[in-house]
Amino acid sequence: MPIQIEFRNVTKTYGSVSAVRDLSLSVCRGEFLTILGPSGSGKTTVLMLLAGFVAPTQGDIVITGKSVAAVPSYRRDQGIVFQNYALFPHLSVRRNLEFPLEMRGVKAADRTARVDRMLDRVHLKEFGERLPSQLSGGQQQRVALARALIADPPIFLLDEPLGALDRNLREQMQGEIKSLHKEFGSTTICVTHDQEEALTLSDRIVVMREGQIEQSDTPESLYDRPATRFVASFLGEANIFENPGFEVEADGAQSPGTVAMIRPERICIGAPGNSARADEDRRQSVPGVVADMIYAGPLRKYYVRVGSSMLVVREHVGSGQQIFKPNDDVRLDWLRSDVRFLANGR
Ligand SMILES: Nc1ncnc2c1ncn2[C@@H]1O[C@H](COP(=O)(O)OP(=O)(O)O)[C@@H](O)[C@H]1O
Ligand SMILES: [Mg+2]
Repeated sequence: MPIQIEFRNVTKTYGSVSAVRDLSLSVCRGEFLTILGPSGSGKTTVLMLLAGFVAPTQGDIVITGKSVAAVPSYRRDQGIVFQNYALFPHLSVRRNLEFPLEMRGVKAADRTARVDRMLDRVHLKEFGERLPSQLSGGQQQRVALARALIADPPIFLLDEPLGALDRNLREQMQGEIKSLHKEFGSTTICVTHDQEEALTLSDRIVVMREGQIEQSDTPESLYDRPATRFVASFLGEANIFENPGFEVEADGAQSPGTVAMIRPERICIGAPGNSARADEDRRQSVPGVVADMIYAGPLRKYYVRVGSSMLVVREHVGSGQQIFKPNDDVRLDWLRSDVRFLANGR
């Protein structure tokens, strides 16, 4: 896919604060890119720069090969959705949806047809005449998505679009956003601090930290091969072996300046005297004592003291499993190939 959006060494400072620092990033046409990071890491600023609401202090933004430095935000042809919906409160749903079409000079009859189609698409056919205040949060957010997409923009920007919704609704809306992306094919950049949302939606995730990109990769690679401690701990849970009190074996040598890590679901828990596994020679096995067990629906989470470390083990609940209690002696084991090394980072 050809590159559609390029940030070239973009910096944005506010007084002494660098919201975005020397950031370079390319986004392909049709890609679904998520920007993930803690609060204050510069995610919104990246979107604001792309939308043209703020100008870079340094560097350039290029869309389909042309610098947009001189293009005002209303001419950038982007659909934008914010967390707080930003619907026009005094206009009906239908009028809210018509607005971007009017701005682009679409004729009245054509507007009506497109609004009808869009209302139907986001399951709000019966709600066209209501005001935003007469809708639930989820419905308002559907209107906001519909309004951003109705003019078929080549670029679709979302800033924490589901932050205000409760968990069930959020999952449902994630599915909706994904299917809208498939249908409309717009290049989509979604900002979130919610790792689950990022993993579910994206072709690629960019992890930001203090105005810079820490790592960028597919959800699977990022989760499976985080490059730094920051990424490993921000995206999922990680057991990081720092002076663990026993030797961590790994396939291949550990490079200097790195620390070993294993994901909780890669560790198996069993009774101390369990018979050897078939792939014993590829595993490391350590004795431990259960400190705590938390039952969380489909998962059981154990905290196990091993040497001077506390390891987290996550197990899918299944039938016929032995369940351990605090103070039980156990044996933990994992594939040496599941141990990763992390840079300590900045
Ligand atoms: N208009 C502004 N004026 C001053 N500082 C700002 C402004 N916008 C953002 N910042 C600062 O820039 C940094 C990044 O902010 P932001 O991009 O909103 O982060 P995020 O969306 O990741 O939470 C923060 O330290 C924030 O306080
Ligand atoms: Mg933000």
